[in-house]
Amino acid sequence: MLEMTADLFRPGQIGVLEVKNRLVRSATAERMADDEGRPTPRLLAMYRELARGGVGLVITGHLYVHPGGKCHPEMTGIYSDELTSALAQLADAVHHEGGRVVAQINHGGMQCSRETVSETIAPSAIAADFLPQPAREITPAEIQEAIAAYAQAARRARQAGFDGVQLHGAHGYLISQFLSPFVNRRTDEWGGDLEGRMRFLRAVCRAVREQVGPDYPMLIKLGLMDGIHRTRAASCGLRVAGGLTLDEGVQVTAALESMGLDAVEISGGIGGGRNLNSPSGIRTASDEAFFLPWAQRARPATRLPIILVGGFRSRAVMEDVLAAGDADFISLSRPLICEPDLPRRLQEGQAKSACTSSNRCWPKGQGEGIACRCVDRAT
Ligand SMILES: Cc1cc2nc3c(=O)[nH]c(=O)nc-3n(C[C@H](O)[C@H](O)[C@H](O)COP(=O)(O)O)c2cc1C
Repeated sequence: MLEMTADLFRPGQIGVLEVKNRLVRSATAERMADDEGRPTPRLLAMYRELARGGVGLVITGHLYVHPGGKCHPEMTGIYSDELTSALAQLADAVHHEGGRVVAQINHGGMQCSRETVSETIAPSAIAADFLPQPAREITPAEIQEAIAAYAQAARRARQAGFDGVQLHGAHGYLISQFLSPFVNRRTDEWGGDLEGRMRFLRAVCRAVREQVGPDYPMLIKLGLMDGIHRTRAASCGLRVAGGLTLDEGVQVTAALESMGLDAVEISGGIGGGRNLNSPSGIRTASDEAFFLPWAQRARPATRLPIILVGGFRSRAVMEDVLAAGDADFISLSRPLICEPDLPRRLQEGQAKSACTSSNRCWPKGQGEGIACRCVDRAT
């Protein structure tokens, strides 16, 4: 282990956005919105608590940009101008505590729940055991509608006072579906080789930029690899196993700067990808930072700041990753459900999060919301 430095609590920069330290709250779907997607008082209180806990940058749970892209009940929305003032309360809650907040914007595509969307769309028609229902192929007109929905959502985020937007380009949602050869088997300009599969992301970035202007921070959480198991692909009757490869993910990373993005958060996994992107049982330092090898592959491919998520639990591991230059920011999801004030605790000398990554924080039913429900939580 390297000697502990104060790297974690040095200010950082994402485009024009100044961040007071290197700790980021990774987007975490809270399931605390009303039926129209408006934040509830409980959600606002959660954001206040997070900001008070000292995290440098809060990224919201994914916000749906279009009613047809609502992933699950109680998801927060950003699909209509009528929501802007309610979202402004959320941004204000964080700012009031001296924090910074970026809105993660998303369209669920094929992964939307039956409870929220009666018919799902994907780049190609797809039925798979990990999907809530078979998805229909999106039409060219619907592609344009989705691109416009991301752009309008970004405009609302800016109007509501958020410090930036993050495109959700990971975990098998619509942007990651377009990138994936497992899902995207189109033969028109929106599919085919990697350049064709990137066209949707490029178009979304262009449309967002047009709405928010040249300086507004635009981030992406990018899935560098799909990691779909070969046998699972075979059981779905699909020819292309594995999906997006790490080599391709690195090529996408290399193209991000030209798309006008300001930072990339590295993640991965589709196909009910919860196991790949938030595995349970992170116990030892060697279980931590499980996407670090991917960050190390991405680092030489881009000049953008790298935000690394996935399994960070101890300050020493976070400091090592920063000191080695493998990432510029450390992103946390489950540890901040467990201890919203973890940044402050780390600064005051706590060595490790109490989170045991048992994944009971995922809400099972209506009205539960995210919460630490682990019985084996460390003290
Ligand atoms: C309850 C829950 C909800 C999540 N919601 C989102 C989300 O809305 N957007 C997203 O990009 N990732 C989401 N994730 C993934 C996390 O941001 C993160 O990438 C993953 O949990 C690994 O980080 P961790 O080990 O710090 O939890 C969610 C994870 C959990 C546990």
